[in-house]
Amino acid sequence: MIHKCLFPVAGYGTRFLPATKSSPKEMLPIVNKPLIEYGVEEAVAAGLTRIGFVTGRGKRAIEDHFDKNYELEDQIRGTGKEDLISGTRALIDQCEFSYTRQKEMMGLGHAILTGETLIGDEPFAVVLADDLCIAEGDGVLTQMVKLFKQFRCSIVAVEEVPDADIHRYGVVAGEPLKDGVYRITEMIEKPSREEAPSNLGIIGRYILTPDIFEVLRNTSPGKNGELQITDALRQQALDGCVLAYRFSGRRFDCGSIDGFVDATNFCYQRFYKNGQ
Ligand code: UTP
Repeated sequence: MIHKCLFPVAGYGTRFLPATKSSPKEMLPIVNKPLIEYGVEEAVAAGLTRIGFVTGRGKRAIEDHFDKNYELEDQIRGTGKEDLISGTRALIDQCEFSYTRQKEMMGLGHAILTGETLIGDEPFAVVLADDLCIAEGDGVLTQMVKLFKQFRCSIVAVEEVPDADIHRYGVVAGEPLKDGVYRITEMIEKPSREEAPSNLGIIGRYILTPDIFEVLRNTSPGKNGELQITDALRQQALDGCVLAYRFSGRRFDCGSIDGFVDATNFCYQRFYKNGQ
């Protein structure tokens, strides 16, 4: 049904300079595991094992991370350290990885359109790995895949965001369909507080139907002169149906310093210190 997950990872990560000057933001570790690996784990847990990356300059470390490293594995064999990379090895064995390059950073919508060659004509998920999502039961993508099976249309994950931060999000308004699920009636990218149609901001988890590519091709650049996925989804909502889903779980904006530190403390306590 849904087999593919696209990771747009071409952005410059300017909020994290100088760390991101020559290293990808997505390789920043939360404790001892890079952000991108948490994202791929979430995709695999949802049954999505065909992983596509839209990369850019300076992102080769991501390709190397999801590849075997015989020399290293040989070095640590029998030292008790194999366990430290067994999770990564399991992902490498389970997934098929493919890559394409976004030549110019023209926005998230443009990055997704660049990924069309990796996706083709089927529904797919999109994960922005700098949004780290931790849920108690099913992961956020698993929750969304279940919802997709029921409604078969594009879905965006949303959460309530404080008024002071609303200008940093795509913001939606909609009619409630069932608990935590809304049919979107309005969507605005990075609105002012006055323009915002609600306090529900889109976070970095999407399920998209493949007609989004044609809509993106016909969408003009929006906020900041970039091709915005929010504008294309707004059109898809007007033409048919797009859902907003209030997921269960916690999300950390690891593209910001505060979110990154919060995520590090949370994961240290939860996965590392307590060995869970
Ligand atoms: P962000 O704006 O959060 O990431 O884009 P950024 O540009 O890397 O970070 P800052 O704001 O400069 O610190 C959201 C996601 O979309 C991807 C980014 O890699 C990130 O995962 N993206 C954004 C692209 O792949 N291409 C683009 O042209 C824009």
